[in-house]
This record gives sequence, C-alpha cells and structure tokens, in this order.
Amino acid sequence: MDLCVDLAPSRPAGLPLSNPVMIASGTFGYDGYGRGLDRDAPLAMMGAVLPKTFTRHPRLGNPEPRWFPPSFREGLEAGDTTWLNSVGLTNPGIEAAMADLAPQWAGSDTNFIISIAGDTPEQWEEMTSFTRGVKGFSAIELNLSCPNVDDGAIFSHHPRLTEAAIGSARRQTDLPILAKLSPNVPDITEIAHAAVEAGADALTICNTIPAMHVDVATGRAVLGTGYGGLSGPALRPIALALVHKTAQAVDVPIIGVGGIMTGSHAAEFLMAGASAVQIGSANLTDLNAPFRILNELEELLARWEAESVSEIIGMAWWGEPCGAQG
Ligand SMILES: Cc1cc2nc3c(=O)[nH]c(=O)nc-3n(C[C@H](O)[C@H](O)[C@H](O)COP(=O)(O)O)c2cc1C
Repeated sequence: MDLCVDLAPSRPAGLPLSNPVMIASGTFGYDGYGRGLDRDAPLAMMGAVLPKTFTRHPRLGNPEPRWFPPSFREGLEAGDTTWLNSVGLTNPGIEAAMADLAPQWAGSDTNFIISIAGDTPEQWEEMTSFTRGVKGFSAIELNLSCPNVDDGAIFSHHPRLTEAAIGSARRQTDLPILAKLSPNVPDITEIAHAAVEAGADALTICNTIPAMHVDVATGRAVLGTGYGGLSGPALRPIALALVHKTAQAVDVPIIGVGGIMTGSHAAEFLMAGASAVQIGSANLTDLNAPFRILNELEELLARWEAESVSEIIGMAWWGEPCGAQG
C-alpha cells in the first residue's frame, strides 16, 4: 500500500513523507526532545518527528504546576477530557539546538522537522537564518500559535502578523515551511490565506485552546499560570472542523492535529481534507501511541481495500451537504 504524501508539492524537492503520521511538537517524549523513549523506538517509521519549539534564547518555561492531570502519564480517567498544559516553551534556544541537536538528527534515519517561534518579524528572520546550511531536518514549522507565553504576540491571530512572520522566515530559507495556526480565531480561512500568500507550503491545524480548571477543594486554578492550553480528546472535533474548513479554502496541504488517539481518528482528519496528521497528547499517555496509530491506520486502509492513502484524503467532501446541519 502506498502511504507516501508530499507536503510541499510546489517546492522542487517537495517534502515527501513515507507515511502521513507525524509526532507533534512538544510531545516527542516527556520533554519534547525524546526523553523517556526507548533507544530502539522505531522513530524512522514515522512520517516525521517534530522536536519541541525553539525560541531565539533559551527558556526555562512557566511556573509549576504545568500539567493537568498532574502527570499525563498517571491518573487519567477514561472519558476525562480536561487535558491542560502550560509548559511555556522550555527549550535550549535555536543556536544550541543547531549546534548540539541537529548533528544528532543528521546522523539518524528519522525525518526531523524543526519548530521555531519568534517574538518579532525580525526575530523570525534571524532565527531562520541560523538554520541555513544546517543538516538534520527537512522542513521548518513556524509555531505561530503558542498560547502559553505572555511575552510575544500570537502571530496567527492576525493576518498581517501571520504574513510578516512567514515572509520574514521565507526570506532566509528554501526549505519547506509549515505554518502552525491557532484554533482561537473567528475565521481561520482568513489567516490561512495570509499564510499561503506569505509563502507557507503547508498549514498545521491546530495548536491548543486557552483553557482553565479549578480544584474546588481548594478554590485554586490547577496550573501555575492559571490558564493553559487544552489538548487531547476535547480538541478533536474542533480541530477537525477547522481542518475541513481550511482544506476547502486553500490549495496547500493541511496537517491535522488535535486529540488523535487512534488510527480511526487519523482517518477522520484525512477524510476531512488533511494530507497528514500529527500525534500530540496521545504520546504523553503512551509513548508507543504514534506507532500504534500508524499501524491502525494502515489496517483500516487495507480493510477498505485502498491502494494508497490519497484515496481517502478529502473524501468527507463527497456528497451534499457536508457539515451544514444546524
Ligand atoms: C505538553 C505539550 C507541549 C506542547 N508544546 C508545543 C510546542 O512546543 N510547540 C508547538 O507548536 N506545539 C506544542 N504543543 C501543541 C501540540 O503540538 C498540539 O498542537 C496540540 O497539543 C494538539 O494536539 P493533541 O490534542 O494531539 O495534543 C504542545 C502540547 C502539549 C500537550
């Protein structure tokens, strides 16, 4: 079965993936950089792996507690959909990443895609310039949508900021650019158009939604920052609708992300028009999740007698009307 997808068909070399299942930024191992993963974990099996977002300077992250439930790895109740995090982009900074991490990736057979976030258009440009000539990754995802930092704008909340950030990065790289968008906007297609016009090759939809949980026994918000980002099962139907809406509005590949826990969920996103998916929170409850989800997707495609994954991409558009019921 042909599982290959190309996420940058208009670039000379494209961005070919061996299959459409990727590991989402911030959820690669327990720390976002692979901690906790078995040394023999079959990472090369994934379409791509996205380490946690790098910023211009190292960041320690937000005050504790940063997670709810306190550890995603313990205490998750079946049916519990309040999955919050406020990590705050803990990372070693782009220069250390390029010097120390990229050479390790270059020596592996895994397809890495880096994720970066700047505070100003100038910083996006400067950060992208640090990636020039560095080997070890095949594309750059611009995290235009992190809700957990208060020292920078959420670029993808505004078409003009979206354009400025992507345009700045585009000037410094010929690598494919993925623009990661926020779900928290009145009209995602307006942002999507701005992103594509500024040079994004693909759109990743979506990041987490600002959210809160209060422990009524103490009256205290459970996260150190009060608000955090909602991910996991509760996000899935929202992300799915945003993917579907955007896929009809723009002509670049969409990468669906939000609450994908099974192969069937992944198929849902592909049917809604995504060309690939990213697995986020599911990794945090089970480091084996992305490999299992890929297998389950493959089994589903085989059961449907599909010869290639492209046969199901966008098929939720078939028939009339679609998604229009009140
Ligand atoms: C603990 C945690 C850390 C995250 N860190 C990042 C990050 O550094 N950069 C980023 O673009 N997204 C980050 N995200 C967002 C995920 O990549 C993903 O977009 C989001 O969680 C929705 O997918 P999910 O429901 O499968 O988790 C993070 C999510 C979680 C749960």
